[in-house]
Amino acid sequence: MTATALHPSAAPPAGAPVLLRLESIEKTFVGVKALKGVSLELLAGEVQMLLGENGAGKSTLMKILAGEYTPSAGRIVVRGHEVAGLTPDSAKALGIGLIHQELSLVPALSVAENICLGRMPTNRFGQIDWKRAHELAAEAVGRLGVAIDPGAEVGRLQIAEQQLVEIARVLEWNPEILLLDEPTSALSDAERERLFAVIRRLKDRGVGMIYISHHLAEIPMIADRVTVLRDGSVVGTILPDEADEERCISMMVGRSLEDQFPKPAVSKGAPALEVAGLAAGKTLQDLSFTLHQGEILGIFGLMGAGQEEVAAALFGLQKSRGRIRINGQDRAIRTPADAIAQGLGLLTRDRRQSLVPMLTVGPNLSLPWLSNRSPWSALQHRREGEEVQRYIADLKIRPATTTTPVRFYSGGNQQKVILARWMSSGAGILVFDEPTRGIDVGAKADVFTLMGDLVQRGMSVLMISSELNELIGMADRVLVMRGGRVSAELGRHELNQEALLRHAS
Ligand SMILES: Nc1ncnc2c1ncn2[C@@H]1O[C@H](COP(=O)(O)OP(=O)(O)O)[C@@H](O)[C@H]1O
Ligand SMILES: [Mg+2]
Repeated sequence: MTATALHPSAAPPAGAPVLLRLESIEKTFVGVKALKGVSLELLAGEVQMLLGENGAGKSTLMKILAGEYTPSAGRIVVRGHEVAGLTPDSAKALGIGLIHQELSLVPALSVAENICLGRMPTNRFGQIDWKRAHELAAEAVGRLGVAIDPGAEVGRLQIAEQQLVEIARVLEWNPEILLLDEPTSALSDAERERLFAVIRRLKDRGVGMIYISHHLAEIPMIADRVTVLRDGSVVGTILPDEADEERCISMMVGRSLEDQFPKPAVSKGAPALEVAGLAAGKTLQDLSFTLHQGEILGIFGLMGAGQEEVAAALFGLQKSRGRIRINGQDRAIRTPADAIAQGLGLLTRDRRQSLVPMLTVGPNLSLPWLSNRSPWSALQHRREGEEVQRYIADLKIRPATTTTPVRFYSGGNQQKVILARWMSSGAGILVFDEPTRGIDVGAKADVFTLMGDLVQRGMSVLMISSELNELIGMADRVLVMRGGRVSAELGRHELNQEALLRHAS
């Protein structure tokens, strides 16, 4: 049975005219077939959510529709007429607007200049009417319910504000076919709600929208239909009612939920980290364990059970008592620098603590306070350049550039950058503290794949998590904590939700 037969297309809402039809669109980049014959239909007044893992081809498809890329094959039909040789200008003339994932603003220009780019209002002497431009810009962002200074330089705005300016810029010329490529990735819940209110108004006006997002929770909020793209092909189109998390994920990744945890069989080596009587903060009373090379040791607990303090205590971020042995030697870890010097790495639940958002991948790999290398020699710089490229390739960091500040990366890719840093600093023991909090499903599978790679290389992983599924999927053993102490140790074959919860409460 083919994937399409498994996921039959949903019936489109009756009566609405077809605004846009794609027939067998293909796109080949040098060496990559990004789209392998994509067909879909967008109706007037419809919000069609487009789901897919990173690299599935979503953005490429949008850029083809916006005339930015030329398809290698296939037909685009807009309101019943085939359009060939789309350019950005002709796409715009057809009413197709694209809100870019990577934002298409000019950072050095003001909000007003960006919004009015190419059609600056002029006065009767043919001079730019700045007052009018500022009014237009203020109105445009005002429609999204925010106030952003029209005179502000875009490059100095926060990322959420930039995203809102990008949205306002495109909405400003009233597109009838609106493509939104991950518009909510940097927005707060309140900002997203205001964007959704705008989307609903546009729907009422008959605007058809393709809406790309990784947030499955947004499906019932906004989608009329859900189309899933995988590896350059449409897997199927379904209705929101049918689009529960499990189904969407299995359509996106092409395997069932259980298979998302690529747990390799690794035989465990010598003890890497031995902890005895660790106590810290208000909740962590007494924790002892031995983590071996090649092992993934899970720690699970309900809120306040002590597991929240473990990472900070081990990493010298908080005062602790107890004994820590690393590779058989007693070690005192009082500061993060001590921890790093002893070969520990920490992936925090909040990636903002670990990355400098304005910097690109390279500098984030060798943050001076986190590495002991000399930043000055030219040779070192070249080696680092090569190293950065290698990590980007090895860990499939996307976008695969060395010039994009990491704040533009998705949560999953930021997580990979942090991982690359620890790998480059030679850490042998990695503490993952809530490793998948706030990252999308596709990237979660990537993080687990990487986790599996790390232990295959003989590294050790301490996985502190409140996600039962990921512990069951990845851990060799799990320590369950209750009241600041270990209440049970469960081996891999004993792991199930019921047992974990029973020992935790
Ligand atoms: N300009 C480009 N040159 C070469 N390859 C590209 C280019 N843009 C995208 N790709 C590749 O095409 C595939 C699809 O990428 P993309 O459309 O960005 O996926 P998505 O938006 O679903 O994450 C990826 O393998 C990506 O690396
Ligand atoms: Mg994309």
